[in-house]
Amino acid sequence: MCGIIAAATDRSVGKLLIKGLYKMEYRGYDSAGIAMHVDDQVAHLRTLGKVKLLEERMKLEKPKGKIGIAHTRWATHGEPSELNAHPHQSNDRVFIVHNGIIENYLSLKEELTKEGYAFSSKTDSELIAHLLDRNLKTYNSLLEAVQGLKDRLDGAYAIAALDQNEPDNLVLVRNRSPLVIGLGKNENFAASDPLALAELTNKFLIMEDGDVAKVAPDSVEVFDAKNQLVNREQLTIDIKAEAASKGDFKHYMEKEIFEQPQAVLNTLDGRIGGEDVLENIFGEGSSELLAKVKRVQVVACGTSLHAGRVAANWFSAIAGLPTQMDYASEYRYKNPYIDEDTLLVTISQSGETADTLAALRYANDKDYLGSLAICNVPTSSLARESDFLLLTNAGPEIGVASTKAFTTQLTALMLLTLSLAKATGKNPRLRGRIIKALRFLPEKISEALALKPEILEIAPEIANKNNALFLGRGIFYPIAKEGALKLKEISYIHAEAYPAGELKHGPLALIDGEMPVIAIAPEHELAEKLVSNLEEVKARGGALYVFGNAEERLGLTSGKYINMPDCDFLLTPILYSIPLQILSYEVALLRGTDIDQPRNLAKSVTVE
Ligand code: F6R
Repeated sequence: MCGIIAAATDRSVGKLLIKGLYKMEYRGYDSAGIAMHVDDQVAHLRTLGKVKLLEERMKLEKPKGKIGIAHTRWATHGEPSELNAHPHQSNDRVFIVHNGIIENYLSLKEELTKEGYAFSSKTDSELIAHLLDRNLKTYNSLLEAVQGLKDRLDGAYAIAALDQNEPDNLVLVRNRSPLVIGLGKNENFAASDPLALAELTNKFLIMEDGDVAKVAPDSVEVFDAKNQLVNREQLTIDIKAEAASKGDFKHYMEKEIFEQPQAVLNTLDGRIGGEDVLENIFGEGSSELLAKVKRVQVVACGTSLHAGRVAANWFSAIAGLPTQMDYASEYRYKNPYIDEDTLLVTISQSGETADTLAALRYANDKDYLGSLAICNVPTSSLARESDFLLLTNAGPEIGVASTKAFTTQLTALMLLTLSLAKATGKNPRLRGRIIKALRFLPEKISEALALKPEILEIAPEIANKNNALFLGRGIFYPIAKEGALKLKEISYIHAEAYPAGELKHGPLALIDGEMPVIAIAPEHELAEKLVSNLEEVKARGGALYVFGNAEERLGLTSGKYINMPDCDFLLTPILYSIPLQILSYEVALLRGTDIDQPRNLAKSVTVE
C-alpha cells in the first residue's frame, strides 16, 4: 500500500529518491517523507499530501546527502497527516520507513511506553523506530538491531532503516511485503517495486521473507531468516522507460486503455499455435497436471475477481469443469471445500495483494492438486510461490483503476480454459475457432477503441448524475460489475451491477429520470430477454445506454445505442470491457477527479 525507496550512493541522493517516489505514488499518495544522512546528522522531512509537496520542501531546504530512505503513504493506522507520515524516528537517532501492518502493535506500544518511549503518531510503524533504538543499546550494529526485530514483530513488513551513528549504510528487512534490492555501480538501492528503480539499474536481488540486508554504496550483504549470509539470485529486469511514463496521454489510465491491443498481443505471444494452445505454457509439467483437474477454485480481489467470474463461465462451457469463486478476503474464513482434484487459480495484477497471497499460502498447506497464478508481475510473491504461472505481460499498470490488466487476465484465462479443454480432449473444433478469433482480438480491440467519439457524446449525460446501474446477462454480468466498479472508483458516482433479469426483484424501484442504465447487450441467446428487461427500464423513465451489435434485430425502441464490432461470442466479454473503461474515464475527466490516484485508494493492496 505504501511505497518505500532507499539508496546508498556516492552522489547526492535527494532527487533520485523523489523520482522513485513519483513512480510509486500509485501505491499510496496521502503523505510522503524522506530521511538522509547529512554530515553527522540525519535530515528528516515529511509532508501531508502528494510527493510534489515533498519535492517543493526539498527544493526549499536543500538537504544534501548520499544515503537516504523515503516513503509515500496510504494510511492504515492513523489519518493522513504530517505526524503520521514516514519516516518515523526515535531519539533523533533511528529513522525508518515501513510498508505493511504490524499486528501486535498495541502490546508493543504499551511495552515501549512503559519504558519511557513517547509516541508522536497514531501509526503502527513508529514503534519500529523505538524498538530499534532500544535494540541499539544492546546490539553492536544497526544490522543486528534489525535482525533482533524479527522475533518481536508479527505481521507483514518491508522496512528500511538508518542509524545516525552509521552514516555509511542502511539496513532493510522484509517479511510478507515486497522489497527488491537494485544493484548499481558504486551505488545500491531498494524499493517496493523494481519500477521505481528502472532508470537506475536493471539488476535486482529479490529479498525473501525473513531476509535482512545491509546496503552500502559498494556492497550489499543479505542474511536469511536464520541470520546466515546468503547469495540471492540476481535477476535482470528491463523496464522500458516509456512503460513508466504517460507519453502524450493526460493520464496513465488513458494510456493503459489504449495500450490494450498490444498488451493482449503480448499475452498471446508464444502461447498459441496454428489451431490450438501450446503445451506447458504455465510451466514444465503443467499440461500433465491440467489433465487431472476435475474442479477449479478461483480466488482473487476486485477487478481480478471479475476476470475470474467470466472465466468460470468459460471453464464450464468449454472445458466442462465446475468452478467455485471466492473473494480472497473471504476464502480462508469459510472452511472452503478442498480436494486433490481441484486446481487453485489465483488472479492478480500486482501479485502482492495481501488477501490473495494469504489465500494462496493457506491453500499451499492443503491438499489441492496444485496452484496456478495469472499475474502481471514476474518478481511478485504470487508469481514465485505458485506451482504454475502465466504472466499476462501487460507491462507496468500504474493507473489505480485496472484496465489492461483486466483484458490481459481475461485473455490469459481463455488460454487456461483452452489448455484445460485440450488436456482432456474436449471441444477440439471449438478450440480451433477460439484460437482463430484470439488472433483477431487485438484488431477488434482497436476497433472498439475507435468508438471513443460516440462515448464522448454520452459521457456528459452520465457525469451529472449521482447513480448508475449496469446490466448484463450470463457471461456479461461480470462485465457489468466491472463497468460499475470502474465508474465508481474514479468518478465517485455510485454504481451497481445486476443481471438484468434481477431488476424486477427490487432494483427497478430505483429507476427514474435520474438513473442512467448502461446495458451490455451483444447478440446472444439471452439478448431478447435482455431487451424486455430494458423496455421495463424505459417504461419507468430510466435513461438507457446500450452497447450491442444487433440494433435492428433487437428492435430496441429507445435509448442510445452504441454499435460494437462483431467478434466471436466467447470473446465478447473482453471486447465489451473497452467502451466501459473509456466511458468511466471520460466521465471522471468531466467531473475533474484525480483519475490515476482516486481518493482513498491505492493500487497495490498489501494489507489484509
Ligand atoms: C480496480 C482494481 C482493484 C484490483 C484489486 C486486486 O480497478 O484495480 O479492484 O483489481 O485490488 O488487485 P490485484 O489484481 O493486484 O491483486
